[in-house]
Amino acid sequence: MAGTISLARGWPAPECLPVAELADCARAALQRDGTTILSYGPASGYGPLREWAAERHGVDPSRVFLTNGSLQGFVFLAQRLAPGRRVLVERPTYDRPLKILSALGAEIVALDCDDDGLDPDALESALGSGEPPAFLYLLPTFQNPSGRTLPEDRRRRVVELAAEHELLVLEDDPYGLVRFEGEAPPSLHELSGGTTAYSSSFSKTISPGLRVGWFVLPEGLARELEATATGTYITPVLLGQATVYEFLQRGLFEPNLERVRGLLGARRDAMVDALGRALPDARTSHPEGGYFLWVELDGVDVSDLFARAEAAGVTFVKGADFGGGPDTLRLAYSFVSPDEIGEGVARLAAALPAAV
Ligand SMILES: Cc1ncc(COP(=O)(O)O)c(C=O)c1O
Repeated sequence: MAGTISLARGWPAPECLPVAELADCARAALQRDGTTILSYGPASGYGPLREWAAERHGVDPSRVFLTNGSLQGFVFLAQRLAPGRRVLVERPTYDRPLKILSALGAEIVALDCDDDGLDPDALESALGSGEPPAFLYLLPTFQNPSGRTLPEDRRRRVVELAAEHELLVLEDDPYGLVRFEGEAPPSLHELSGGTTAYSSSFSKTISPGLRVGWFVLPEGLARELEATATGTYITPVLLGQATVYEFLQRGLFEPNLERVRGLLGARRDAMVDALGRALPDARTSHPEGGYFLWVELDGVDVSDLFARAEAAGVTFVKGADFGGGPDTLRLAYSFVSPDEIGEGVARLAAALPAAV
């Protein structure tokens, strides 16, 4: 297999993208509602999609805020709340929010996690001293980068602690629906009776290029972020949102999700098998869904391995980029084919220093 194999990219494999269906949906959306979606509109997004999200989460539409991808919404929220304040995150966590928070001058407090995700005792102790944090950024399901899922008892504890300390929790959940097996635990948003904040996205379930994310927020905060959105882009991309809405209305979402689950589940299996064969001593997470798997290579300098792996034709992301230890790495199984995953893991194993 020639060329570099990317186990770094958290992108969907090209065959996950429902290109022909979206082409039809975009055309139908323009025909049906063209003068609305080709003009400026509300900063909170396309009304019908906002109502869909409100109904899904059992909240008033005034609490729903649609953005050009959920990361854009995170930027707005962080700009509003984080400068000069403590923000709690998991260790490890998604690297882009870490960069955004540090550019905004937030004090990032990384909380310990284990194989089940965030340790609620670490949260309790962080809340027990110092200035009250601006918010907790939490990825409870198929976490990026670890692939871990927070069990229900821990979710309940987090929700209780948040209520006790009046802590705003942002539950970022782009991967929850991409579940290959097992039962989904209730979201923090559900467990809290809708008081915690929630964000998700159609990036992993339909297409990231459409750039459609959504937030469920306390109403006052939703209004504040809408003002920030108005001052940034006036109106989000209504064509993308209306295309998603058409896709949902046609009943295409669930069948597409089933298809995506099948494609990505096969890739997860290929990666687990390949790791079992090529790196039997590595400690790895075993995600029931999502895009990523976390690897701990006891005693290996992953910075050094990174350079050796690149030379051997495979890339990954160093765990340290997410705040993880120097012997950790994130492997994405979402993008390349099962065969490429097998070959990529074999190249990674061959790149390890001989002593390991
Ligand atoms: C945990 C997490 N949150 C948010 C995002 C951003 O998603 P979007 O495409 O909706 O901006 C990603 C993208 O990879 C992600 O992994």
